[in-house]
Amino acid sequence: MTAATPRERERELHLLVFGHAPGSLAGAWRVPGVGSDVASRRQRMVETAQVAEAGLLDGIFFADGLNFGPDGTWAHKVPDDFEPLTTTAFLAAATEHLGLVVTGSSQFQAPYTLARQLLSLDHLSGGRAGWNLVTSFSEAAAANYGSRGVVGHDDRYRQAEEVLEIVKTLWDSFEDDAVIADRARGIHTDPSKVHRADHHSEAFDVAGPLGSTRSSQGQPVIFQAGASTAGTAFAARHADAIFTGHPTLAQSQDFYRRITQQARDAGRRTLPIVTPGLSFVVGSTEEEAQRYEKVVEESFIPEYQAAWLQEVDIDVTGHPLDGPVPLDRFAAASEKHHTALAGYKTLATEGNPSLREFLYKTISAFGLRVVGSPERIADEIQHRFENGAADGFILQPPVAPDQLQLFVEHVVPLLQKRGLFRHEYSGSTLRDHLGLTPPANRYTTNR
Ligand SMILES: Cc1cc2nc3c(=O)[nH]c(=O)nc-3n(C[C@H](O)[C@H](O)[C@H](O)COP(=O)(O)O)c2cc1C
Repeated sequence: MTAATPRERERELHLLVFGHAPGSLAGAWRVPGVGSDVASRRQRMVETAQVAEAGLLDGIFFADGLNFGPDGTWAHKVPDDFEPLTTTAFLAAATEHLGLVVTGSSQFQAPYTLARQLLSLDHLSGGRAGWNLVTSFSEAAAANYGSRGVVGHDDRYRQAEEVLEIVKTLWDSFEDDAVIADRARGIHTDPSKVHRADHHSEAFDVAGPLGSTRSSQGQPVIFQAGASTAGTAFAARHADAIFTGHPTLAQSQDFYRRITQQARDAGRRTLPIVTPGLSFVVGSTEEEAQRYEKVVEESFIPEYQAAWLQEVDIDVTGHPLDGPVPLDRFAAASEKHHTALAGYKTLATEGNPSLREFLYKTISAFGLRVVGSPERIADEIQHRFENGAADGFILQPPVAPDQLQLFVEHVVPLLQKRGLFRHEYSGSTLRDHLGLTPPANRYTTNR
C-alpha cells in the first residue's frame, strides 16, 4: 500500500479570507470611520493580512476581473482595483506564514508571464503562492486585452488545459539537483538538468526555460472555481483547492459529492480541498451581531449592486427597489455564467424578497451568509465541514467594525476547542497549511 498523504491521515479545516480592501464592497466605504484614501486602504490591507495570520488562516485570496466593472457602478465604488500579484508581493513582506492566492487568467495573461510572476512570488514569499486559475467570462476584460471578444465557454477550458500544462512545465525547468554552485570551476548550474518547455501549438509558442529553480513548496498551489460541466471536470483533474459558492446546504453537498467523485474517477489520490465562500457578521451576542448587521445594511448601495449584476447577465437596474424581483430580467440561460445565474436565481426566489432585499443578499460570497454569535458561526462551519459540504471556507468579512479581528478572537478559539482547527502553523508553506505534498519534478519522475 502507498503511504497516506497528510490529508488522508487527518482531515483539517481550512480557512482563507478575501483580501480586497473591504472598503470596495458595495458601499462599505460609507461606514463611519472607514477611510477610503489610498493610505487607509493600503493600511487596511496589511492589517487584514496580519490579523488573518494571527488567526492561523491558510491564506488570503485576491480575485480579479481584469476590468473596473460596469459603468453604472463607477459612481458608487472606491477605485482600489489594485493588481493582485503586486499586491500580494507587498503583503509577502508584511507576513511570514500566510498563503497568498492570486487570480490569473488563462485567457488573457501570457503563460510565460504567469509562470514567471507566480514562481517569483512563490520564492520571494518562502513558498506561499497560490494561483487561482480563472478562464475569464467578461467581455469588458476581453476589451482590455484586444478586440476579439471572449472565447466560448468550453473552448476556454480547453485553452486552460494547455496554459496550465505550459505553466507547470516552465515551473519544472530546473531539476532539484541542477544547482551545484562549484566556485572553483565557475560552474553554477548543470545545464543538462535545465529543461526548455518547447511547447508549440496553434495557439502558443513557448520555448523556455524559466530562469529560476523550483520553490520551497515545489510549485505554487492551484486553485480553481469551475462549476459547469467543463469547469468541474477541469477542477476535478487539476485543482489542489476549489473555490465555490452555493446558497443551500443541499447544493453544497451535491457539488462536493460530484467534484470529489470526479477527482476519484480521474485517478487522484489526494482529493481537492473544497472551500466555499462564507460571508458573516459576528458579535459577542446575537443582539450585538444584529447591531453590526445594521451598520452593514445602512452602508449598502443597492444601485451599485444592481449595476454590478449586469456582469452576470442580470439587468435589474432602474426597477423599483421595493417591488418584486423582475425575474424576466435574468438571462434564461447563459453559457458564460452557469454558476452565478443559478445561485442568484435561488436567492431571488427563496422567501420572495423585494428587489432591495435580493440585492442585499447578493453581497454574500456566492451564497452562504451567517449573522450571529461566535457559537452560531462556529456551529455553521462545523455542520458543513462534518456533513460533506466543505473542507473549509473563504471568509468574506464586512468592514464594520473589525469583523475579521472579531472572528479571529472569538470564532477561531471555538473551532480550536472543538478540535477542528490548528493551534499553530505546522510548516511555513501554503502546501504545508493545506496538507499537500510538493509535486515531483516531471523531468526527474520520467527518468
Ligand atoms: C469564490 C469564487 C471566486 C471567483 N473569483 C473569480 C475571479 O477572481 N475572476 C474571475 O474571472 N472569475 C472568478 N470566479 C468565477 C470562476 O472563475 C468561474 O467563472 C465560475 O465559477 C463559473 O464556472 P464555470 O465557467 O465552470 O461555469 C470566481 C468564482 C468563485 C466561486
